[in-house]
Amino acid sequence: MSIDKKVRPAKKLEGTVELPPDKSISHRAAMFAALHDGTSQISNFSLAADPQSTLSCLQQLGVEIEGEGQEISISGVGRFGFKDPEQPLDCGNSGTTMRLLSGIVGGAGVKGTLTGDDSLSARTMKRIIDPLRAMGIDVSGRDGNYAPLKIRRENPVKALHFELPIPSAQLKSCVLLAGLFGEESTEVIETLPSRDHTERLLKLPVEQKGDRTIISSSSSIAIPPQSYRIPNDFSAAAFWLVAGSLHSGATIRLAKVGVNPSRIAALQILQQMGADISIENENRKAVEPFADLSVTGSTLQPVTITEDTVPNCIDEIPILAVSMLFADGTSHIRGAEELRHKETDRLSAMAEMLQKAGADFKELEDGLEIHGDPEFIPQPASYNSYHDHRIAMSAAVLALKSSGPSLVTGAKCTDISYPGFWDDLAMLTN
Ligand code: S3P
Repeated sequence: MSIDKKVRPAKKLEGTVELPPDKSISHRAAMFAALHDGTSQISNFSLAADPQSTLSCLQQLGVEIEGEGQEISISGVGRFGFKDPEQPLDCGNSGTTMRLLSGIVGGAGVKGTLTGDDSLSARTMKRIIDPLRAMGIDVSGRDGNYAPLKIRRENPVKALHFELPIPSAQLKSCVLLAGLFGEESTEVIETLPSRDHTERLLKLPVEQKGDRTIISSSSSIAIPPQSYRIPNDFSAAAFWLVAGSLHSGATIRLAKVGVNPSRIAALQILQQMGADISIENENRKAVEPFADLSVTGSTLQPVTITEDTVPNCIDEIPILAVSMLFADGTSHIRGAEELRHKETDRLSAMAEMLQKAGADFKELEDGLEIHGDPEFIPQPASYNSYHDHRIAMSAAVLALKSSGPSLVTGAKCTDISYPGFWDDLAMLTN
């Protein structure tokens, strides 16, 4: 059933938000805990739909998971303790589940099928199918490209020397995870660094050679336990950083937010635009650094986002586009064609949203050109989320600046990464 949410213009925006735990780290914590030979106690695990899909797939692979809510304990089965699932592994809407788990299932020699919902089944999987096949893993997809993916392996894992054709952390992680099962070392080379959670949490060897980062994995790497507190999700924080920046008199506080340098380009972009964001209590020593953030309203300047920054703000580009509508001049987003391959085509969904709001902009093949105006008042509109969580939340933040109530259709999709989003919006505005 599709649920629509009415969003009224904000008269106030004030409060402390309890953000959801980081989605990317939750997936990895669970998968790597399953690969570890022993028990991991994970604290602040995400209750959002995507990481929960990872947990249920792991259970189907014979992994025992106990605990209540965000505090869980995972009894790892080690590299070769997984069982063949009796039913297809349902990855739901989650690209990270499907792409990372394919590396583990294929590497471990488990015989299984990975499926997903309509959105995930329409997303390209060729990017992982090709390298996994080159590693001797038999993967077949519908039309050679899409889920369901059927995976099995008869022969040993062949090491791969793989230059990433696109800066994707999911692809990088998939190959590195399959590489954990090979006797020889698999090397993944990236020139545009993407989020490095896999490298950090598995403590993989990383070498820097000029602008090339070389990450290695092999069966000689011990899988560490994953007993830590997962920081809160920077990608969720980004919606409030923009909302707070756009309203004079707003103050929003966000505690224990992940500030891994490979994830926070949006924070730097907003600061470059003149956003008033303060960072306190930073803990850089944690395996995944975190800090408290707070934001107050300010006037924004235009900015240009180029290809080299896109991987570090890939999930924040829709909400950054919203911020650009209110900047004093023309902003550009370039080199972001990868957004067309997300839960929906996010460039096209954003273009439709901006058009409905009455904005002055141009959709480009690889981005957006946005003519901002600090006095811009979006028209009240009915925004289609296309069942994409980040589009729904971007529309909600945009609607807070409108002259009258707007509608976000298919609003329940925010559960994919941020189950409390609509409650937090109500708390901040009431
Ligand atoms: C993710 C990587 C990114 C990001 C996604 C989560 C991850 O995808 O968009 O939300 O956890 O590795 P790509 O690797 O496809 O860019």
